[in-house]
Amino acid sequence: MMAKTDSQYRYLARQLSSKAVLFTEMIHTNAILHGNQSKFLDHTKEQNPLVLQLGGNNPEALSKVCVLSNEIDYDEINLNLGCPSPKVKSGNFGAALMAQPELVKDCLTAMIENSDKTISVKIRLGINDEDINESLDKFVSMIAETGVNIFYVHARKAILEKLSPKDNREIPPLNYERVRQLKKDFKTLEIIANGGIKDINESKNAFSDLDGIMIGREAYSNPRILGNVDSILYQSNDMNKSLKEITENMFNYFDTLNRKSEIKRGLIHMHGLYSGLKDARRIRVLLSNFNYFKKAKNEIISLLDNQYSEVA
Ligand SMILES: Cc1cc2nc3c(=O)[nH]c(=O)nc-3n(C[C@H](O)[C@H](O)[C@H](O)COP(=O)(O)O)c2cc1C
Repeated sequence: MMAKTDSQYRYLARQLSSKAVLFTEMIHTNAILHGNQSKFLDHTKEQNPLVLQLGGNNPEALSKVCVLSNEIDYDEINLNLGCPSPKVKSGNFGAALMAQPELVKDCLTAMIENSDKTISVKIRLGINDEDINESLDKFVSMIAETGVNIFYVHARKAILEKLSPKDNREIPPLNYERVRQLKKDFKTLEIIANGGIKDINESKNAFSDLDGIMIGREAYSNPRILGNVDSILYQSNDMNKSLKEITENMFNYFDTLNRKSEIKRGLIHMHGLYSGLKDARRIRVLLSNFNYFKKAKNEIISLLDNQYSEVA
């Protein structure tokens, strides 16, 4: 998620789950090819399993990025075909590409030929006034001809131009049944449902006919949800850290960062970690003051001393 799932957020997420597959923010190929490559591509080892998500529509640029990322330890490269923002639409990438399956096929074929990683796509159910009963299967079957067989499906349409990005995540209704039908129609494809998922336990049962779930906003605003991933979905109890330990680890991690901007982002990402605690507001205030944050650490830890049992 742009401006959310950066390296600092992913470090936090790994404190809660060692198994959840994490995504980078969507990065446009031009930003990588003409910008600071190491800023965009490098990541620390403990972030895997990790998917690099790309935005773009140029097969040559996408293949160049795939070649660069062959040197980097990503587990998968995902092409974004679901972002509805006006800026993305005017650049003709993201969800706008769902109307151009031939171009998408060229992009994916180029990526597959130049990458040693699994290539996947993130899609919507369709765009604008498409009849998703027909258009979705047609689109997916064309894309699957390239060999791509992992589809992350945001279970709603994108209405381009008429709705803001935020409204496009809320107003078009969620339609999980359409995602389920897609899996029935394409049994050999991996279909992962996304949109509105807030509870790991409930969704384990609700989406047992699919190949996985993808969680966006809830994993950001309430990262503690990730604390259930390993135990409920992978039957592993290795990651049982208290909030106090996680907080200490984050502050130790900040000591290893060189840039103030990275520490500031990390502090903001921590806000959701304490949601629901009685001192959440005070902790958020402490985390918000960069000049004070080192001194704030001890106060936060002492506030947490008494609280973890309330939320565990
Ligand atoms: C601030 C923000 C940024 C997002 N950035 C991306 C992105 O870079 N790539 C992407 O595939 N989806 C992005 N999304 C969409 C989410 O991945 C997800 O598809 C959507 O929010 C629905 O899932 P949810 O209800 O679990 O959040 C973003 C969502 C938000 C709120």
